[in-house]
Amino acid sequence: MTHAALLDVDIRAKRYGDRAILDGLRLTLAPGKITALLGPSGCGKSTLLRIVAGLDRDFTGTVSLDGVTQRGPSPLAGVIFQEPRLLPWLHVAENITFPERARGAALVRAHALLVEVGLRADDGARWPKHLSGGMAQRVAIARGLFAQPRLLLLDEPFSAVDAMTRMRLQQLLLTIVEAHRMAALVVTHDIDEALYLADRIVLLEPASGEAGRPASREFDVEMHRPRRREELAGHPLRAILLDRLEASVAAVSP
Ligand SMILES: Nc1ncnc2c1ncn2[C@@H]1O[C@H](COP(=O)(O)OP(=O)(O)OP(=O)(O)O)[C@@H](O)[C@H]1O
Ligand SMILES: [Mg+2]
Repeated sequence: MTHAALLDVDIRAKRYGDRAILDGLRLTLAPGKITALLGPSGCGKSTLLRIVAGLDRDFTGTVSLDGVTQRGPSPLAGVIFQEPRLLPWLHVAENITFPERARGAALVRAHALLVEVGLRADDGARWPKHLSGGMAQRVAIARGLFAQPRLLLLDEPFSAVDAMTRMRLQQLLLTIVEAHRMAALVVTHDIDEALYLADRIVLLEPASGEAGRPASREFDVEMHRPRRREELAGHPLRAILLDRLEASVAAVSP
């Protein structure tokens, strides 16, 4: 018996007006694995993530989560964006449990999640405007975990924080994915971030409309964990990815 992938994406066409954004894209994700999505600006990474999250249904194709075709947002998938997007009129704990009220078992779970993401349970009583950017993004991660998803979707999740916070949040993501055996799809512009985090890197190519041209290329990152950041600079994949990215940027804007 073969195991179905946790996530199975088959996008035949995604257009904005008469512009093809994604065509002929296949992607599968396995539990416990992190996939990084790289590609030039405007090639459709956020579009793909929104489709997978069930936030955009205006495309031809299918997205299956745990063998079930998706028709909208699913509790099986938690989404984390570049900005924390916390609701300013709700306390931190209420942001985590939203749309549920933060009381009883929901509040207990919010407190446990705050601790898991490296904050304190009593930070739950704070207002979002009193948090640093890094703390707010930790709260956003806690909120993404609240419904016990099996898949995390992250769109440039660490690009708005300083370098040190970014490294800590990357470490947090690795810990969470391993602890919960989740699958994660992380959009990033940073090759080193992709190499540090991912088991596999998918390079999304701008849609060309040419038959037979691949919509993406996949690279396995064979490096044992824990990975050392110093090793990334000399990794052979780094030069290959840089070359390919430069080639696709040139194809978009020669
Ligand atoms: N609502 C929309 N209506 C029309 N065009 C759109 C819309 N949203 C995105 N686009 C276009 O679709 C293309 C893909 O956008 P998308 O945001 O997915 O790119 P991206 O790969 O995430 O880029 P970046 O790396 O800059 O975040 C872009 O050319 C963008 O201008
Ligand atoms: Mg984007």
